[in-house]
Amino acid sequence: MTKVAVLGAAGGIGQPLSLLLKLDKAVTDLSLFDVVNVPGVGADLSHINTDAKVSYHLKSDNNGTGLQSALQGADIVIIPAGVPRKPGMTRDDLFKINGGICADLATGIATTCPDALVLVISNPVNSTVPIFAEVFKKHGSFNANKLFGVTWLDTVRANTFIAQATASYPTSFKVKVVGGHSGDTIVPLYSVTAADAYAKLSNEEESALIHRVQFGGDEVVQAKQGAGSATLSMAYAGYRFLKTFLNAKDLEEPIVESCYISLDESVKGAKETKAYLKELTGEDIEFFAMPCKLGSNGVESIEFDLLKAANDKERQLINVCANTLTGNINKGVSFIRGN
Ligand code: NAI
Repeated sequence: MTKVAVLGAAGGIGQPLSLLLKLDKAVTDLSLFDVVNVPGVGADLSHINTDAKVSYHLKSDNNGTGLQSALQGADIVIIPAGVPRKPGMTRDDLFKINGGICADLATGIATTCPDALVLVISNPVNSTVPIFAEVFKKHGSFNANKLFGVTWLDTVRANTFIAQATASYPTSFKVKVVGGHSGDTIVPLYSVTAADAYAKLSNEEESALIHRVQFGGDEVVQAKQGAGSATLSMAYAGYRFLKTFLNAKDLEEPIVESCYISLDESVKGAKETKAYLKELTGEDIEFFAMPCKLGSNGVESIEFDLLKAANDKERQLINVCANTLTGNINKGVSFIRGN
C-alpha cells in the first residue's frame, strides 16, 4: 500500500507526472492537489483502468482544508507546485513566489504526514529545499534522510547529452551529478561515471558538454517561447526518481541515485562529505546533491567515494558551485528565519 500525493498536480509537470504514477502498479492511492483545475485532471485520470485509486483536492475544499485531506496518510509527497520559469527569468527570480508556496505546503506536510518522503521539484531547488527543512525544523519533524530536492533531470540530461556527443545510446550511461540544481552549481562527474566515453572528447567538447548539462533547461525555455520550462522531461525525471523508493521495497540492494539533500550529521556519510567540501572550497555547505544509496525509508548513506574520485577539472567546478550554492541555501534559510 503506497499513497503518493502530488502537490501542483494540475500543472505542466504535475499532469504528466500524475499520469505516470497512475500507470504504476506500486501506487495504490494517488492524491492530487492544486489551487485550480485539479478536479478536471483527477476525473480524467480516474477513468484509466489501473488499480491506483485517484482522489483530488482543491486548496479551497471544505473551508480551506483541501491540503490536509490530500496529505492524509501519504507515504510519498512529490511537489511540482509553483510558477515556472519564463524567458529572461532565472530560477532565482522565481524564488519569492515559489518560496511562499513551498513554506505553506511544508507546513501542511509537517502537521499532516510528518513521516512521508518529501520530493521537491519546485524551483529554485537550491533554496526551496532549505525552506522545507526550516519549516520542518520549526515543527520538530525534520528528518534529513527523507527530504530531497529532485535533481534527476540533470542526471537525465547528463546521460542524454554525453550520448549525443559521443554517438552512443543514452541508456548506456549512469552519470552521477553533484552540487546544486541551477547553472554552474550543477557538476556532472563524467570522469568518474562515464570515463571511457568522456576520454574520447577534446577539451573544447568536454567544456561544451558540461555547459550544456548546466544550462540545458534554457534550451527548453527558449524553444517553448514563453510557454514555460521543461515539463515532460521533468515529469519523467520526477517519476523515475520517485520510482526508486517504490522499487526499493522489493530490492535487496539499495539503489544509488543523485539527489539534493541536507548534509545533516544524521545522514550516514554527510559529515565526511561536508568536511571534504570545506577543505576543497572553504565553504560550510549545508545542502548538496550527492549520489546516495536510497531505500524505502529514504537515504541509507551518501556515496562519498564518488565525490573524492572527481578529477581536477571537476574539483574546480565544485569550487565554483560552492560559492553560488551557499548563497542560494542562505536565501532559503533566511526566507523562513527572517534574517
Ligand atoms: P505550472 O505553472 O504549469 O504548474 C504549477 C502548478 O502549481 C499549477 O497547476 C499551479 O496552479 C500550482 N500551484 C500554484 N500554487 C500552488 C499552491 N499553493 N499549492 C499547490 N499548487 C499550486 O508549472 P510547471 O511547469 O509544472 O513547473 C512547476 C515547478 O517546477 C516550477 O517551480 C518550475 O520552475 C519547477 N521545475 C523544476 C525542475 C527541476 O528539475 N527540479 C525542472 C522544471 C521545472
